[in-house]
Amino acid sequence: MIKEKNKKIKIDVDQLAFYYGKKQALTDISLKIPEHEVFALIGPSGCGKSTFLRTLNRLNDLIHKTKVEGKIEIDGQDIYNPNVDVVQLRKSIGMVFQKANPFPSSIFDNVAYGPRANGIKDRKKLREIVERCLRQAALWDEVKDRLKAPGTSLSGGQQQRLCIARVLAVEPDVILMDEPTSALDPLATAKVEDLITELKEKYTIVIVTHNMEQAARISDQTAFFLNGVVVEAGPTDRLFTNPTKKETEDYITGKFG
Ligand SMILES: Nc1ncnc2c1ncn2[C@@H]1O[C@H](COP(=O)(O)OP(=O)(O)OP(=O)(O)O)[C@@H](O)[C@H]1O
Ligand SMILES: [Mg+2]
Repeated sequence: MIKEKNKKIKIDVDQLAFYYGKKQALTDISLKIPEHEVFALIGPSGCGKSTFLRTLNRLNDLIHKTKVEGKIEIDGQDIYNPNVDVVQLRKSIGMVFQKANPFPSSIFDNVAYGPRANGIKDRKKLREIVERCLRQAALWDEVKDRLKAPGTSLSGGQQQRLCIARVLAVEPDVILMDEPTSALDPLATAKVEDLITELKEKYTIVIVTHNMEQAARISDQTAFFLNGVVVEAGPTDRLFTNPTKKETEDYITGKFG
């Protein structure tokens, strides 16, 4: 299969450093994330994967005494520029967490929440959005007869797909996922993985995973993090079959981590 060359770079990270107080959690990270690809972040616990993910939608801003250096551009715009509307930024970058976190409301209302917050009131329009997003999240057939049931009444895997539908409803163009399948059984994991592969046609996806088979299955590129630095990044097939750094090889062959 011939890989498409010259894909547009969606997220351009240049010499990023990040600090929690005096503690430096990320050092000199430069990565180019092309659009319409799945970009995986792997590495042992505590190496900075989640921290890095949260720098991409400025979610770390909410943590006291943190500091960012370097530059992150999304679509050529410096997202840490003081003029950036952070609320708008977070709307364009959806996030899915390790533990599915549906709102304590119905399946319908979970998905309709974002559109309503954006001022859409028309019932018919909301129904259309909810159906479209639940279909896109491969959940519609399982829930179409019980849209008024609480989101929390769904199985773990269904809840995670509901959270993905909720993200899609705000029409993001980047989706960040932090170990979205780590709490799911193999069948539910497979469904979410299939979904991620479908979603990349429309979105750019950055996913943290501890599961190297998962990274190999679904991602186009992978970055290996260790102690807050990117040891190696590149096409997933190459990184897993022919790593250039000893640390990468040791990690992917299970020598540590
Ligand atoms: N809110 C915080 N305040 C202070 N230090 C933090 C905070 N969150 C994370 N850290 C520290 O930053 C470093 C990176 O943590 P991070 O959560 O990004 O790692 P991770 O790669 O996602 O790990 P895991 O695989 O366990 O989720 C760790 O040393 C962690 O202790
Ligand atoms: Mg983490």
